[in-house]
Amino acid sequence: MKPGTLSKRLPLMQEADLDGKIVLVRFDHNVAKKGVIRDPYRIDRTLGTLYNIVERGGRPILMTHIGRPRDKKTGKISCDPGNSVKPVVEYLEQKLHTDLYVPEFNIRGDDGIAGIDDSLHAVVEDLRNRKIGGIYLPNTRWFHGEEDDGFYRNSFAVQLADIADVYINDAFGSWQPHVSTYDVTKFIPSYAGFLMQQEIENLNRVLDPERPFLAVVAGAKYDTKIGPLYAIYRKADSLILGGIIYNAYLCAKYGITVKGVSKEDVDAAKELVSMDKEAGKIAELPFVVESESIEGKIEGKYRTVSVKDFREGDKYEYFLDIDPASFKDKRISEAILNAKTIFVNAVMGFTPHFPLGSKALDEAIDENTTALKMYGGGDTLQEFKNLCPGLYLSVLDNAKYYFFTGGGTVLTAIEEGSPYGLKPVQALMENKEKIDKR
Ligand code: 3PG
Repeated sequence: MKPGTLSKRLPLMQEADLDGKIVLVRFDHNVAKKGVIRDPYRIDRTLGTLYNIVERGGRPILMTHIGRPRDKKTGKISCDPGNSVKPVVEYLEQKLHTDLYVPEFNIRGDDGIAGIDDSLHAVVEDLRNRKIGGIYLPNTRWFHGEEDDGFYRNSFAVQLADIADVYINDAFGSWQPHVSTYDVTKFIPSYAGFLMQQEIENLNRVLDPERPFLAVVAGAKYDTKIGPLYAIYRKADSLILGGIIYNAYLCAKYGITVKGVSKEDVDAAKELVSMDKEAGKIAELPFVVESESIEGKIEGKYRTVSVKDFREGDKYEYFLDIDPASFKDKRISEAILNAKTIFVNAVMGFTPHFPLGSKALDEAIDENTTALKMYGGGDTLQEFKNLCPGLYLSVLDNAKYYFFTGGGTVLTAIEEGSPYGLKPVQALMENKEKIDKR
Protein backbone atom coordinates (compact mmCIF):
# COMPACT_ATOMS: atom_id res chain seq x y z
CA MET A 1 0.00 0.00 0.00
CA LYS A 2 1.23 3.50 -0.82
CA PRO A 3 1.53 5.66 2.31
CA GLY A 4 -0.08 8.70 0.54
CA THR A 5 -1.20 11.55 2.74
CA LEU A 6 -1.52 9.34 5.79
CA SER A 7 2.23 9.39 6.30
CA LYS A 8 2.14 13.13 6.96
CA ARG A 9 -0.03 12.57 10.00
CA LEU A 10 0.69 9.07 11.20
CA PRO A 11 3.84 7.06 11.82
CA LEU A 12 3.38 4.05 9.53
CA MET A 13 4.73 0.57 10.11
CA GLN A 14 6.46 0.59 6.71
CA GLU A 15 8.69 3.40 8.06
CA ALA A 16 9.81 1.45 11.12
CA ASP A 17 13.01 -0.53 11.38
CA LEU A 18 11.79 -3.98 12.37
CA ASP A 19 14.87 -6.07 11.66
CA GLY A 20 15.72 -8.18 14.70
CA LYS A 21 13.24 -6.16 16.78
CA ILE A 22 10.61 -7.45 19.16
CA VAL A 23 7.38 -6.05 17.75
CA LEU A 24 4.40 -5.74 20.07
CA VAL A 25 1.32 -5.63 17.87
CA ARG A 26 -2.20 -4.89 19.04
CA PHE A 27 -4.93 -6.44 16.91
CA ASP A 28 -8.68 -6.46 17.28
CA HIS A 29 -9.17 -10.21 17.18
CA ASN A 30 -12.32 -9.93 19.24
CA VAL A 31 -14.12 -12.59 17.23
CA ALA A 32 -14.70 -15.41 19.69
CA LYS A 33 -17.79 -15.86 21.84
CA LYS A 34 -17.89 -18.58 24.49
CA GLY A 35 -14.69 -20.00 23.04
CA VAL A 36 -15.97 -20.26 19.47
CA ILE A 37 -14.97 -18.06 16.55
CA ARG A 38 -18.07 -16.65 14.91
CA ASP A 39 -16.35 -15.08 11.92
CA PRO A 40 -12.56 -14.96 11.39
CA TYR A 41 -12.83 -11.97 9.02
CA ARG A 42 -11.10 -9.61 11.45
CA ILE A 43 -8.23 -12.04 11.95
CA ASP A 44 -7.82 -12.63 8.24
CA ARG A 45 -7.61 -8.89 7.60
CA THR A 46 -4.53 -8.66 9.85
CA LEU A 47 -2.51 -11.46 8.29
CA GLY A 48 -0.76 -9.01 5.92
CA THR A 49 0.55 -7.00 8.85
CA LEU A 50 1.79 -10.10 10.58
CA TYR A 51 3.48 -11.42 7.46
CA ASN A 52 5.12 -8.05 6.85
CA ILE A 53 6.53 -7.92 10.38
CA VAL A 54 8.09 -11.35 10.08
CA GLU A 55 9.24 -10.83 6.50
CA ARG A 56 11.17 -7.74 7.62
CA GLY A 57 12.89 -9.61 10.41
CA GLY A 58 10.57 -8.58 13.25
CA ARG A 59 9.72 -10.96 16.06
CA PRO A 60 6.02 -10.62 16.96
CA ILE A 61 4.21 -10.46 20.27
CA LEU A 62 0.49 -10.32 19.56
CA MET A 63 -2.35 -9.09 21.72
CA THR A 64 -6.08 -8.46 21.57
CA HIS A 65 -9.05 -8.05 23.85
CA ILE A 66 -11.89 -10.57 23.75
CA GLY A 67 -15.34 -9.59 25.01
CA ARG A 68 -15.93 -7.39 28.02
CA PRO A 69 -14.68 -9.41 31.00
CA ARG A 70 -14.57 -6.37 33.31
CA ASP A 71 -17.79 -5.42 35.08
CA LYS A 72 -18.15 -1.67 34.64
CA LYS A 73 -19.89 -1.12 37.98
CA THR A 74 -17.87 -3.36 40.29
CA GLY A 75 -14.57 -3.42 38.37
CA LYS A 76 -14.45 -7.21 38.79
CA ILE A 77 -12.71 -9.07 36.01
CA SER A 78 -13.85 -12.55 35.02
CA CYS A 79 -11.02 -14.39 33.33
CA ASP A 80 -13.03 -17.37 32.17
CA PRO A 81 -12.10 -19.67 29.30
CA GLY A 82 -15.04 -18.30 27.28
CA ASN A 83 -13.15 -15.08 26.72
CA SER A 84 -9.63 -16.43 26.37
CA VAL A 85 -7.50 -15.89 23.26
CA LYS A 86 -7.19 -19.67 22.79
CA PRO A 87 -9.51 -20.05 19.76
CA VAL A 88 -7.80 -17.13 18.04
CA VAL A 89 -4.38 -18.64 18.70
CA GLU A 90 -5.50 -22.03 17.39
CA TYR A 91 -6.89 -20.41 14.26
CA LEU A 92 -3.64 -18.53 13.62
CA GLU A 93 -1.47 -21.56 14.29
CA GLN A 94 -3.45 -23.55 11.77
CA LYS A 95 -3.28 -20.77 9.17
CA LEU A 96 0.38 -19.89 9.68
CA HIS A 97 1.81 -23.31 10.47
CA THR A 98 3.62 -21.73 13.40
CA ASP A 99 3.33 -22.33 17.13
CA LEU A 100 2.48 -19.33 19.23
CA TYR A 101 3.45 -19.30 22.89
CA VAL A 102 0.67 -18.14 25.24
CA PRO A 103 2.08 -17.24 28.67
CA GLU A 104 0.04 -18.11 31.72
CA PHE A 105 0.10 -15.52 34.46
CA ASN A 106 -1.30 -15.78 37.93
CA ILE A 107 -4.98 -14.70 38.04
CA ARG A 108 -5.91 -13.04 41.35
CA GLY A 109 -9.59 -13.93 41.71
CA ASP A 110 -11.82 -11.08 40.47
CA ASP A 111 -8.84 -8.74 40.16
CA GLY A 112 -7.48 -10.30 37.01
CA ILE A 113 -3.77 -10.48 36.23
CA ALA A 114 -1.63 -8.04 38.22
CA GLY A 115 0.86 -7.50 35.42
CA ILE A 116 3.42 -9.05 33.13
CA ASP A 117 5.47 -11.55 35.04
CA ASP A 118 9.27 -11.16 34.87
CA SER A 119 9.46 -14.77 33.73
CA LEU A 120 8.27 -13.60 30.30
CA HIS A 121 11.61 -11.92 29.61
CA ALA A 122 13.32 -15.28 29.09
CA VAL A 123 10.61 -16.28 26.62
CA VAL A 124 11.06 -12.97 24.80
CA GLU A 125 14.77 -13.81 24.44
CA ASP A 126 13.74 -17.16 22.90
CA LEU A 127 11.55 -15.22 20.50
CA ARG A 128 14.43 -12.92 19.60
CA ASN A 129 16.65 -15.93 18.99
CA ARG A 130 14.00 -17.57 16.81
CA LYS A 131 13.51 -20.48 19.18
CA ILE A 132 9.77 -19.77 19.09
CA GLY A 133 7.63 -18.32 16.29
CA GLY A 134 5.63 -15.78 18.25
CA ILE A 135 3.98 -14.94 21.55
CA TYR A 136 0.26 -14.25 22.00
CA LEU A 137 -0.46 -12.51 25.31
CA PRO A 138 -3.60 -13.36 27.31
CA ASN A 139 -6.74 -11.26 26.71
CA THR A 140 -5.60 -7.68 27.39
CA ARG A 141 -8.75 -7.08 29.44
CA TRP A 142 -7.70 -9.82 31.84
CA PHE A 143 -4.90 -7.53 33.00
CA HIS A 144 -5.92 -5.37 35.92
CA GLY A 145 -4.19 -2.34 34.44
CA GLU A 146 -5.81 -2.40 30.98
CA GLU A 147 -8.92 -0.43 31.95
CA ASP A 148 -7.76 0.78 35.36
CA ASP A 149 -7.25 4.45 36.11
CA GLY A 150 -4.54 4.27 38.72
CA PHE A 151 -1.21 2.67 39.50
CA TYR A 152 -1.88 -0.57 37.64
CA ARG A 153 -2.62 1.31 34.46
CA ASN A 154 0.75 2.99 34.33
CA SER A 155 2.70 -0.05 35.39
CA PHE A 156 0.99 -2.23 32.76
CA ALA A 157 1.90 0.31 30.07
CA VAL A 158 5.55 0.31 31.20
CA GLN A 159 5.63 -3.50 31.39
CA LEU A 160 4.28 -3.84 27.86
CA ALA A 161 6.80 -1.36 26.52
CA ASP A 162 9.54 -3.21 28.40
CA ILE A 163 9.09 -6.47 26.54
CA ALA A 164 9.31 -4.93 23.06
CA ASP A 165 11.31 -2.54 20.87
CA VAL A 166 8.49 -1.34 18.65
CA TYR A 167 4.70 -1.13 18.99
CA ILE A 168 2.21 -1.40 16.13
CA ASN A 169 -1.46 -0.64 16.47
CA ASP A 170 -3.53 -2.54 13.91
CA ALA A 171 -6.67 -2.70 16.05
CA PHE A 172 -8.98 -0.38 14.17
CA GLY A 173 -12.06 -1.83 15.89
CA SER A 174 -10.69 -1.06 19.36
CA TRP A 175 -11.23 2.67 19.55
CA GLN A 176 -11.36 2.88 23.34
CA PRO A 177 -8.23 4.40 24.91
CA HIS A 178 -6.98 1.49 26.98
CA VAL A 179 -3.38 0.66 27.92
CA SER A 180 -2.84 -1.69 24.98
CA THR A 181 -4.29 0.75 22.44
CA TYR A 182 -3.24 4.06 23.94
CA ASP A 183 -0.98 4.39 27.00
CA VAL A 184 1.71 2.03 25.75
CA THR A 185 2.56 4.48 22.94
CA LYS A 186 3.98 6.91 25.50
CA PHE A 187 6.88 4.58 26.22
CA ILE A 188 7.90 3.03 22.92
CA PRO A 189 8.16 4.02 19.23
CA SER A 190 4.68 3.34 17.87
CA TYR A 191 3.28 2.92 14.37
CA ALA A 192 0.01 2.31 12.54
CA GLY A 193 -0.41 -1.16 11.02
CA PHE A 194 -1.59 -1.82 7.47
CA LEU A 195 -5.18 -2.61 8.41
CA MET A 196 -5.40 0.55 10.52
CA GLN A 197 -4.14 2.58 7.55
CA GLN A 198 -6.56 1.01 5.12
CA GLU A 199 -9.52 1.49 7.42
CA ILE A 200 -8.68 5.15 8.00
CA GLU A 201 -8.38 5.76 4.26
CA ASN A 202 -11.77 4.18 3.70
CA LEU A 203 -13.26 6.06 6.61
CA ASN A 204 -12.27 9.22 4.80
CA ARG A 205 -14.38 8.07 1.85
CA VAL A 206 -17.42 7.98 4.15
CA LEU A 207 -16.55 11.29 5.78
CA ASP A 208 -15.98 13.00 2.44
CA PRO A 209 -18.28 10.97 0.21
CA GLU A 210 -18.84 11.13 -3.48
CA ARG A 211 -22.45 12.30 -3.80
CA PRO A 212 -25.28 11.47 -3.73
CA PHE A 213 -24.52 9.79 -0.42
CA LEU A 214 -27.06 7.31 0.95
CA ALA A 215 -26.75 6.06 4.52
CA VAL A 216 -28.68 3.10 5.90
CA VAL A 217 -28.74 2.98 9.67
CA ALA A 218 -30.58 0.61 11.97
CA GLY A 219 -30.03 -0.59 15.44
CA ALA A 220 -31.50 -2.40 18.38
CA LYS A 221 -31.21 0.70 20.57
CA TYR A 222 -32.00 4.28 19.73
CA ASP A 223 -30.11 6.11 22.46
CA THR A 224 -26.67 4.63 21.78
CA LYS A 225 -26.82 5.70 18.16
CA ILE A 226 -28.22 9.22 18.52
CA GLY A 227 -24.88 11.03 18.23
CA PRO A 228 -23.65 9.21 15.12
CA LEU A 229 -27.17 9.19 13.66
CA TYR A 230 -27.42 12.99 13.70
CA ALA A 231 -23.92 13.32 12.27
CA ILE A 232 -24.83 10.88 9.48
CA TYR A 233 -28.09 12.72 8.93
CA ARG A 234 -26.25 16.00 8.38
CA LYS A 235 -23.77 14.39 6.01
CA ALA A 236 -26.10 12.19 3.94
CA ASP A 237 -28.21 13.20 0.97
CA SER A 238 -30.71 10.52 1.87
CA LEU A 239 -31.18 8.22 4.79
CA ILE A 240 -32.96 4.87 5.18
CA LEU A 241 -33.72 3.73 8.72
CA GLY A 242 -34.47 0.30 10.15
CA GLY A 243 -34.84 -1.57 13.44
CA ILE A 244 -35.82 0.20 16.65
CA ILE A 245 -34.53 3.48 15.22
CA TYR A 246 -37.10 3.33 12.43
CA ASN A 247 -39.86 2.17 14.77
CA ALA A 248 -39.20 5.10 17.11
CA TYR A 249 -39.16 7.46 14.16
CA LEU A 250 -42.52 6.12 12.89
CA CYS A 251 -44.07 6.49 16.35
CA ALA A 252 -42.79 10.05 16.64
CA LYS A 253 -43.89 11.06 13.16
CA TYR A 254 -47.29 9.39 12.91
CA GLY A 255 -48.36 9.45 16.57
CA ILE A 256 -48.77 5.66 16.69
CA THR A 257 -47.76 3.29 19.48
CA VAL A 258 -45.66 0.21 18.76
CA LYS A 259 -45.00 -2.51 21.33
CA GLY A 260 -41.41 -2.57 22.59
CA VAL A 261 -40.64 1.04 21.63
CA SER A 262 -39.97 3.09 24.74
CA LYS A 263 -41.30 6.59 25.39
CA GLU A 264 -37.69 7.85 25.72
CA ASP A 265 -36.84 6.56 22.26
CA VAL A 266 -39.97 8.13 20.78
CA ASP A 267 -39.20 11.47 22.47
CA ALA A 268 -35.64 11.35 21.16
CA ALA A 269 -36.88 10.52 17.66
CA LYS A 270 -39.10 13.63 17.64
CA GLU A 271 -35.99 15.73 17.08
CA LEU A 272 -35.14 13.71 13.99
CA VAL A 273 -38.69 14.10 12.70
CA SER A 274 -38.53 17.86 13.12
CA MET A 275 -35.07 18.03 11.51
CA ASP A 276 -36.44 16.15 8.54
CA LYS A 277 -39.50 18.37 8.07
CA GLU A 278 -37.37 20.84 6.15
CA ALA A 279 -34.62 18.68 4.71
CA GLY A 280 -36.78 15.67 3.72
CA LYS A 281 -33.79 13.35 3.60
CA ILE A 282 -35.41 10.30 5.16
CA ALA A 283 -36.64 7.83 2.57
CA GLU A 284 -39.38 6.01 4.46
CA LEU A 285 -39.62 2.28 3.90
CA PRO A 286 -43.33 1.92 3.17
CA PHE A 287 -44.07 -1.59 4.52
CA VAL A 288 -43.18 -3.00 7.91
CA VAL A 289 -43.83 -6.45 9.39
CA GLU A 290 -45.98 -6.43 12.52
CA SER A 291 -45.79 -9.49 14.77
CA GLU A 292 -47.60 -10.51 17.93
CA SER A 293 -44.63 -12.55 19.09
CA ILE A 294 -40.93 -11.87 19.30
CA GLU A 295 -40.22 -15.55 19.92
CA GLY A 296 -40.66 -16.56 16.32
CA LYS A 297 -42.36 -15.94 13.03
CA ILE A 298 -45.59 -17.72 13.85
CA GLU A 299 -48.10 -18.34 11.08
CA GLY A 300 -51.18 -16.17 11.52
CA LYS A 301 -49.46 -13.95 14.07
CA TYR A 302 -47.59 -11.62 11.76
CA ARG A 303 -48.64 -9.40 8.86
CA THR A 304 -47.39 -6.58 6.68
CA VAL A 305 -48.68 -3.11 7.48
CA SER A 306 -48.42 -0.05 5.31
CA VAL A 307 -47.08 3.23 6.64
CA LYS A 308 -49.69 5.12 4.67
CA ASP A 309 -52.46 3.50 6.74
CA PHE A 310 -51.10 4.85 10.03
CA ARG A 311 -53.54 7.11 11.91
CA GLU A 312 -52.68 9.06 15.04
CA GLY A 313 -53.46 7.02 18.15
CA ASP A 314 -53.25 3.63 16.37
CA LYS A 315 -51.72 0.87 18.47
CA TYR A 316 -49.57 -1.85 16.95
CA GLU A 317 -47.87 -5.03 18.08
CA TYR A 318 -44.07 -5.38 17.58
CA PHE A 319 -42.59 -4.17 14.30
CA LEU A 320 -39.93 -6.80 13.68
CA ASP A 321 -38.92 -6.43 10.07
CA ILE A 322 -39.11 -4.45 6.88
CA ASP A 323 -41.21 -6.09 4.19
CA PRO A 324 -38.94 -6.74 1.18
CA ALA A 325 -41.59 -5.10 -1.05
CA SER A 326 -40.40 -1.78 0.43
CA PHE A 327 -37.25 -1.94 -1.68
CA LYS A 328 -39.34 -1.94 -4.87
CA ASP A 329 -40.90 1.37 -3.87
CA LYS A 330 -39.95 4.15 -6.30
CA ARG A 331 -38.45 6.56 -3.76
CA ILE A 332 -36.42 3.82 -2.09
CA SER A 333 -35.10 2.24 -5.26
CA GLU A 334 -34.23 5.66 -6.66
CA ALA A 335 -32.33 6.58 -3.50
CA ILE A 336 -30.40 3.31 -3.78
CA LEU A 337 -29.77 3.32 -7.52
CA ASN A 338 -28.80 7.01 -7.79
CA ALA A 339 -26.30 6.95 -4.92
CA LYS A 340 -22.56 7.16 -5.61
CA THR A 341 -21.65 6.23 -2.04
CA ILE A 342 -23.69 3.94 0.22
CA PHE A 343 -22.84 3.39 3.88
CA VAL A 344 -24.66 0.59 5.69
CA ASN A 345 -24.71 0.09 9.43
CA ALA A 346 -27.91 -1.84 9.62
CA VAL A 347 -29.67 -5.06 10.39
CA MET A 348 -33.26 -4.39 9.35
CA GLY A 349 -35.12 -7.18 11.12
CA PHE A 350 -35.20 -8.88 14.49
CA THR A 351 -32.97 -11.87 13.86
CA PRO A 352 -32.90 -14.82 13.59
CA HIS A 353 -36.63 -15.04 12.84
CA PHE A 354 -37.04 -11.97 10.66
CA PRO A 355 -34.16 -11.91 8.17
CA LEU A 356 -35.97 -10.98 4.96
CA GLY A 357 -35.65 -7.18 5.24
CA SER A 358 -31.86 -7.31 5.58
CA LYS A 359 -31.56 -9.77 2.72
CA ALA A 360 -33.69 -7.59 0.46
CA LEU A 361 -31.64 -4.53 1.45
CA ASP A 362 -28.30 -6.17 0.59
CA GLU A 363 -29.64 -7.41 -2.73
CA ALA A 364 -31.17 -4.05 -3.63
CA ILE A 365 -27.89 -2.27 -2.86
CA ASP A 366 -25.95 -4.73 -4.98
CA GLU A 367 -28.05 -3.69 -7.96
CA ASN A 368 -26.26 -0.36 -7.90
CA THR A 369 -23.08 -1.56 -9.56
CA THR A 370 -21.36 1.83 -9.77
CA ALA A 371 -21.65 3.06 -6.17
CA LEU A 372 -18.99 2.51 -3.56
CA LYS A 373 -20.73 0.34 -0.98
CA MET A 374 -19.31 0.40 2.53
CA TYR A 375 -20.50 -1.85 5.32
CA GLY A 376 -19.63 -1.17 8.95
CA GLY A 377 -20.51 -3.17 12.03
CA GLY A 378 -20.00 -6.75 13.16
CA ASP A 379 -23.69 -7.66 13.03
CA THR A 380 -24.21 -5.92 9.71
CA LEU A 381 -21.43 -7.95 8.19
CA GLN A 382 -22.47 -11.18 9.88
CA GLU A 383 -26.02 -10.86 8.55
CA PHE A 384 -24.78 -10.08 5.06
CA LYS A 385 -22.69 -13.21 5.19
CA ASN A 386 -25.45 -15.42 6.64
CA LEU A 387 -28.28 -14.16 4.45
CA CYS A 388 -26.50 -13.70 1.14
CA PRO A 389 -23.48 -16.04 1.32
CA GLY A 390 -23.06 -16.24 -2.45
CA LEU A 391 -23.24 -12.50 -2.89
CA TYR A 392 -20.86 -11.97 0.05
CA LEU A 393 -18.23 -14.29 -1.41
CA SER A 394 -18.56 -12.76 -4.86
CA VAL A 395 -18.02 -9.20 -3.62
CA LEU A 396 -15.30 -9.77 -1.03
CA ASP A 397 -12.60 -8.66 -3.45
CA ASN A 398 -14.79 -6.27 -5.42
CA ALA A 399 -13.30 -2.77 -5.35
CA LYS A 400 -16.83 -1.31 -5.15
CA TYR A 401 -17.35 -2.92 -1.76
CA TYR A 402 -15.59 -2.29 1.51
CA PHE A 403 -16.23 -4.06 4.81
CA PHE A 404 -14.95 -2.27 7.89
CA THR A 405 -13.70 -4.40 10.77
CA GLY A 406 -15.08 -2.11 13.46
CA GLY A 407 -18.62 -0.72 13.43
CA GLY A 408 -18.29 1.19 16.72
CA THR A 409 -15.10 2.83 15.50
CA VAL A 410 -16.73 3.96 12.26
CA LEU A 411 -19.70 5.47 14.09
CA THR A 412 -17.45 7.20 16.62
CA ALA A 413 -15.32 8.69 13.85
CA ILE A 414 -18.41 9.83 11.95
CA GLU A 415 -19.68 11.52 15.09
CA GLU A 416 -16.33 13.24 15.56
CA GLY A 417 -16.17 14.11 11.87
CA SER A 418 -12.66 12.70 11.50
CA PRO A 419 -10.65 9.53 12.12
CA TYR A 420 -7.92 11.66 13.67
CA GLY A 421 -10.04 12.36 16.74
CA LEU A 422 -10.03 8.69 17.75
CA LYS A 423 -7.90 8.45 20.87
CA PRO A 424 -5.63 5.55 19.77
CA VAL A 425 -5.02 7.32 16.46
CA GLN A 426 -4.22 10.54 18.29
CA ALA A 427 -1.73 8.67 20.44
CA LEU A 428 0.06 7.50 17.29
CA MET A 429 0.08 11.03 15.90
CA GLU A 430 1.68 12.35 19.07
CA ASN A 431 4.22 9.57 18.80
CA LYS A 432 5.04 10.66 15.28
CA GLU A 433 6.07 14.07 16.58
CA LYS A 434 8.48 12.33 18.96
CA ILE A 435 9.84 10.00 16.25
CA ASP A 436 10.30 12.90 13.80
CA LYS A 437 12.25 14.91 16.39
CA ARG A 438 14.75 12.12 16.94
C1 3PG B 1 -16.02 -4.65 18.84
O1 3PG B 1 -16.22 -5.86 18.73
O2 3PG B 1 -16.92 -3.81 18.62
C2 3PG B 1 -14.65 -4.18 19.13
O3 3PG B 1 -13.78 -5.25 19.32
C3 3PG B 1 -14.65 -3.27 20.31
O4 3PG B 1 -15.10 -3.92 21.45
P1 3PG B 1 -15.57 -3.05 22.71
O5 3PG B 1 -16.79 -2.27 22.27
O6 3PG B 1 -15.86 -4.04 23.79
O7 3PG B 1 -14.43 -2.11 23.06
